[in-house]
Amino acid sequence: EDDGPQPEKHCGHGRGGMGEEVSRKEDKRFITGRGNYVDDIKKPDMLHCEIVRSPHAHARVKDIDGSRAEAMDDVVAVLTAEDLLEHDLATMPTLMDDTQDVLVNEKVKFQSQEVAAVIATDRYTAKDGAEKVEVDYEVLDPVVDAQDALDAEAPLIRDELDDQEDNHIFDWETGDKDATEAVFDAADVTIEEDMNYQRLHPAPIETCGAVADWDPGMDKMTVHMTSQAPHAHRTLFSQVSGIPEHKVRIVSPDVGGGFGNKVPIYPGYVVAAAASFVLEQPVKWVEERSENIQSTGFARDYDMTGELAATEDGVIEGVKVDVLANHGAYNAAAQPTKFPAGFFNIFTGSYDIEAAYGSLTAAFTNTAPGGVAYRCSFRVTEAVYLIERLVNVLADELDVDPAEIRRRNFIPSDAFPYESATGWNYDSGDYEKALDKALEMADYEHYREEQQRRIENDADKLLGIGISSFTEIVGAGPGEQCDIAGIEMFDSADIRVNPTGNAVLRIGVQTQGQGHETTFAQIVAEELGMDVDNISVEHGDTDTEPYGLGTYGSRSTPVAGAATAVAARKVRDKAKSIAANELEAAEEDIEWDRESGEFHVAGAPDRSITITEIAAGAYMNHPGGEEPGLEATNYYDPPEMTYPFGSYIVVVEVDRETGEVDFEKFVAVDDCGNRINPMIIEGQIHGGLAQGIATAMLEEVTYDDNGNVTGGDFMNYLLPTANEIPNFDTGHTVTPSPHHPIGAKGVGESPTVGSPPAIVNAVVDAMNHAGVSHVEMPMTPDVVWAALDDAGLAH
Ligand code: CDP
Repeated sequence: EDDGPQPEKHCGHGRGGMGEEVSRKEDKRFITGRGNYVDDIKKPDMLHCEIVRSPHAHARVKDIDGSRAEAMDDVVAVLTAEDLLEHDLATMPTLMDDTQDVLVNEKVKFQSQEVAAVIATDRYTAKDGAEKVEVDYEVLDPVVDAQDALDAEAPLIRDELDDQEDNHIFDWETGDKDATEAVFDAADVTIEEDMNYQRLHPAPIETCGAVADWDPGMDKMTVHMTSQAPHAHRTLFSQVSGIPEHKVRIVSPDVGGGFGNKVPIYPGYVVAAAASFVLEQPVKWVEERSENIQSTGFARDYDMTGELAATEDGVIEGVKVDVLANHGAYNAAAQPTKFPAGFFNIFTGSYDIEAAYGSLTAAFTNTAPGGVAYRCSFRVTEAVYLIERLVNVLADELDVDPAEIRRRNFIPSDAFPYESATGWNYDSGDYEKALDKALEMADYEHYREEQQRRIENDADKLLGIGISSFTEIVGAGPGEQCDIAGIEMFDSADIRVNPTGNAVLRIGVQTQGQGHETTFAQIVAEELGMDVDNISVEHGDTDTEPYGLGTYGSRSTPVAGAATAVAARKVRDKAKSIAANELEAAEEDIEWDRESGEFHVAGAPDRSITITEIAAGAYMNHPGGEEPGLEATNYYDPPEMTYPFGSYIVVVEVDRETGEVDFEKFVAVDDCGNRINPMIIEGQIHGGLAQGIATAMLEEVTYDDNGNVTGGDFMNYLLPTANEIPNFDTGHTVTPSPHHPIGAKGVGESPTVGSPPAIVNAVVDAMNHAGVSHVEMPMTPDVVWAALDDAGLAH
């Protein structure tokens, strides 16, 4: 009913509502060292758990001897799969209906897999104890490459599964194969490119951990854990352990970055809970860095072949893609969609393409399981990379400017809502506007001339300009398309206004640093005319918050943000009846004024009342026939996803002697619909671009042929530092989502999704006059130098 705040008009009621740059409420505790992370939690008699991990990638466990550890003073217990079997906890379900060992029962399937656990009175003893556990392994041949894993000769990894005769997991296809083939057969031009989206790890600064505390007096299990989805985790915990759900409390306190890594349930959480249950003492488990990178959910690892069919003047008619996905030792991709490859089928991107077809094969390998949505919406990152690279390859082939070829193919702004060839309903967009703005901000023509000048002068440093005009799909999701363990993907908000006029908002999503305590309070401030300082936001405790499905895939604003606005409007409706009572007018004559935030009698603006006065009325003078109090709850099942978009332009210098790449200019224009807090959005964009640069230039989880993780710590898995990150020029356009109550779309992941193809396009662009059509990520200097050398460009 309510049109919600209008784009760009809503800034400046001065109460900290939509569009205002409210300082982050949570920063006071963070910058004064008062954050409360899992490892800050200390309980009386708390024990510590250390996991014994396999040094081999593929091996049979013949014997585990924990006696030397057990003999140590202060070691309380050594747990193996046998102990867990007694409690039916030796295995746990993954989010993709596979079954993963909590502690290895018979066979190790990846290096660093959990084999045993040592519980001791302090962390150091637990660690020393873990080193004393002797495991007798029969080492087997591993296979780490997905293509090799599908060979008939490859060792069978999942031999415990009935009917599993090879390492193949599933095949999936999308789109219309025949129609796409017909378009390709008739096309003037076709292009094809192979590209690998390497295995990444979200690598949050805080690793995963838990403090489990079984209370035998209350028969209740409380687990403080690094969770991006506390409610869903409570349901799963209850299902796995048999403890009734109301007797399980999951608390996700401050979380030091999630990025998808804290969506799955890991063996360490289960072991800590099982140990606490058995020993009747609290048990803490916190991973080290290398354990986090080597055993918890990785991201990407897609080997893709993409093709485009187009007319000779560059109108794209068809797109095809074939993917080989490495899923690791278990099918444990953390994605709630009903599609095996998540939202990968959005690979038509920002373009109006008649025909599309995609096929994908997933394989088991002797590597850690995963496939989490690392700052992305379930494989949209891979899809965006694919299409944005292919469009550039086509532009090269036809010798059309990459900006121009995008313009020729964009879904026109008047075509929304738009249904893509793979069945997605895009809500709104104006892609050309965002691109035009980015081109202007980047001084595009100038750099094109400069690029030419350098080629002509045989300069030592080549210039490359890369564009990415991406479309995202965020806000999982309509319950029909997305669920976790059968629970449909809605989200929730509960607002309680206190008698003194301030309010508590409880939400079903859980922040990991995105600033929800500020932005969600801003939504309430906007919708109720309250001051943002008078609203506190609580989240992450399943005992007190309404049920929600968690924060990942930029779904918080699209889903819980919508729930918050709807709940606030319900409060506003009730407030009207109280206002009518207080102002002695009929309820239908009461109007709410967004600008002043006050309720007044129609035609008599001086007869007005604030929400604070109404709150007092709700408890002290409530109208007859009405319940006292002022509160409302909403569970919101979104009708559709939201489709944020943007255009990024990257200018790089490529050193022909060293292969080093320097960023000359980095422009990011984003459109996330109506904006709640521009400053927080800016922060989200900066952080996401840093992760995009990391993807394109630095990061990769690598393995040797024996399955040893050679990229499993921060010496080898290269995180960016301030040295590698350039200044960003950010800009925005505003195209509200028509179906979202406040017109907002998500934004947090856009920069990580959108920037890698812009960066690769830029580096390739520096060399394509010499025939280079692709460079694989991460584009470390040696990789770039090899490409220069192959093209005869190296100095
Ligand atoms: O789900 P997650 O919080 O990671 O992602 P998001 O919904 O994209 O939001 C990231 C942060 O940006 C949150 O604090 C949002 O409230 C804020 N945001 C905003 O201020 N305006 C928008 N239109 C979208 C997000």
